[in-house]
Amino acid sequence: MPIVFNAERRAWALQSGGMTYGLAVDQAGRLRHSYFGSLLPRLEDLPRTSDPYLPLRDRFFPWEPPEGPTERYEYPPWGGMYYHEPCLKATFEDGVRDVRLIYETYSTKGDERIPELVVTVRDPHYPLRVHLHYRLFEELDLLERYAVIENAGRAPITLEQVLSAVWHLPSKHDYRLTHLAGRFAAETQVCREPVSVGKKVLESRRGNTSHHANPFFAVDPGNATEEGGTVWFGALAWSGNWKIVLEHDVWGVLQVSGGVNDFDFAWHLAGGESFETPTFVGGYTQEGFGGASRSLHRYARDHVLPREGSRPVLYNSWEATYFDINEEVQGELAEKAASLGVELFVVDDGWFGERNDDQRGLGDWWVNREKFPRGLGPLIERVHSLGMSFGLWVEPEMVNPDSDLYREHSDWVYHFPNRPRTESRNQLVLNLAMQEVQEHLFTVLDGLLVENDISFIKWDMNRPFSEPGWPQAPKERQRELWVRHVRGIYDILSRLRKKHPEVAFESCSSGGGRVDLGILRYTDQAWTSDNTDPFDRLRIQEGFSFVYPARTMMCWVADPGLWAKNRTAPLSYRFHSAMMGALGIGSDLLRWSAEEMQEAGRLVEQYKQIRDVVQEGDQYRLLSPREGETTAIQYVSRDRSRSVIFVFRNPHQFLDPAPSVYPKGLGERSLYRITGVDEPRSGGALMGHGIEIPLEGDLTSTIIELSETQRE
Ligand code: GLA
Repeated sequence: MPIVFNAERRAWALQSGGMTYGLAVDQAGRLRHSYFGSLLPRLEDLPRTSDPYLPLRDRFFPWEPPEGPTERYEYPPWGGMYYHEPCLKATFEDGVRDVRLIYETYSTKGDERIPELVVTVRDPHYPLRVHLHYRLFEELDLLERYAVIENAGRAPITLEQVLSAVWHLPSKHDYRLTHLAGRFAAETQVCREPVSVGKKVLESRRGNTSHHANPFFAVDPGNATEEGGTVWFGALAWSGNWKIVLEHDVWGVLQVSGGVNDFDFAWHLAGGESFETPTFVGGYTQEGFGGASRSLHRYARDHVLPREGSRPVLYNSWEATYFDINEEVQGELAEKAASLGVELFVVDDGWFGERNDDQRGLGDWWVNREKFPRGLGPLIERVHSLGMSFGLWVEPEMVNPDSDLYREHSDWVYHFPNRPRTESRNQLVLNLAMQEVQEHLFTVLDGLLVENDISFIKWDMNRPFSEPGWPQAPKERQRELWVRHVRGIYDILSRLRKKHPEVAFESCSSGGGRVDLGILRYTDQAWTSDNTDPFDRLRIQEGFSFVYPARTMMCWVADPGLWAKNRTAPLSYRFHSAMMGALGIGSDLLRWSAEEMQEAGRLVEQYKQIRDVVQEGDQYRLLSPREGETTAIQYVSRDRSRSVIFVFRNPHQFLDPAPSVYPKGLGERSLYRITGVDEPRSGGALMGHGIEIPLEGDLTSTIIELSETQRE
């Protein structure tokens, strides 16, 4: 039984394949956390929930909370003597700002595949209820958590902090944190550091997920490796202001809380209304950081993404033509792309309004007749006749002040009276908290999809929020905009998907500024980074892969010199780097030589042969681009019959030979053939003895393909 309740102890255990999560009601009726770790076969093994320091309290620490100094609550409200990061902070109508939550009831739902526990707690005096949801993914050792705050009375309640969940780790003093930080063109950099006493806050206050931090954490006891050791980890499904707080105290208590950022947040919860938090998925593994990532990848593919199946090879003309686009040149590029085997042709920025640069036009989503005198129809037809589908770039949340939309609706942007409207990339953010703005965007986008045969939308978002005012709303509702904006995007996307189920979407925000498990419920892939340098990409993509599966990681083959000025990687290296995710091409194909076109065609063909392994398989980061000069990333099909290893030789010195690579995840006794090598070898031999890599010279690369010839 995956969810067990012990009535006598008033305790629950959620049991997955390799993990147990436990909670219980204490004598005072409060919900306490009891356990999060390796599988406990018997419920009796669950630790009692009381604070181990409690017996010492009266002698040594009388000023600590009556429950003891290391109390662990399942969803702690701010009230009484609670000083750690709370999950819930609220003010009642009469001004009381102290919230208590005691156990009321529980239920189980869901199905055998994903059983769900809902525990309801309530304030003993005020009509406030909190429903705590736990959805268990047994095979993945993952638990989804979210909370629903219900105002069961009539008087409004102001919510000031509503987190999704807190994860409690066993008391210990030398934990280590792994997280993803970055900046524009250098997103998702893996950072690893000791967890010291105090608080570490990972967050965004920019309105989007942000380039600067990604809503993910992994904590280990300091000795986990890529392939082994205990790791607790989690990721938030939210695309706006978020925070993850690690709070570590001198008792060794470590709690990791996360959800919508409470900074500048307030929610007016009227009588009868509920507030649902985003999901915070957490997991436990003994298979190191790689194991954590593989779990999250499977979770994203099987339970988060809106569609099954591999992503097509795309061409995007942005880096080839920038704003200088027209029907003729796009058509020529399409011819070239089709001859390479590209399956989806995407026109980027510049096709609409008066959009000749980034100064004007955003908001005016009508086709620019100077560039496309006959509309988009003839280009789309040409693309189709070449056997490709057609995609288009939009940036719906934004407006340039120099646009018809802004001239008509200057009050549709976030702004404060008596304050400037700070522009970034010459644009302002539309107020999606407003229902009429949402309606307008849905109508415009729906119109585009109805009028044109479009299969793919790249949804961009090129600036963070500033002056987040919503003067039209009642004062007590104005700070809801942070959440309402994100919900607005989710809502528009889900309406569009419903009406146009054949259309796929890509999440973009100046590259990887909006990549998270929230947006990936509504989009099929994400633009990983504007930085398309294939060597820089190895590190960006490695960090991305800590959380998100290869299928969602859009990678373009780019022309050399665009990002790293003096770096000219061979075409094959550029392809190999981009073939580790969803492959795209962003180069100016009109300048490619016949030889380059031929080689590229072969590589696209090779990608199509291996893409199911890359996009659907398990990933092993064999050699990290952060360590050493050789990078190796492996993918293994779920049935272990095929595997692909990408190996890159990066700038190195002293004629050092490349190290061998040691594949993972193969069947020990199965026989595998390496493409191009006659003699098959057992999985055990390949994994134990390794494969020699005959790569010489900087920026060289190769792909090793393994296929099973005999099953163990
Ligand atoms: C952003 C995106 C790019 C491109 C431009 C267009 O920077 O990340 O890929 O679409 O906008 O203006």
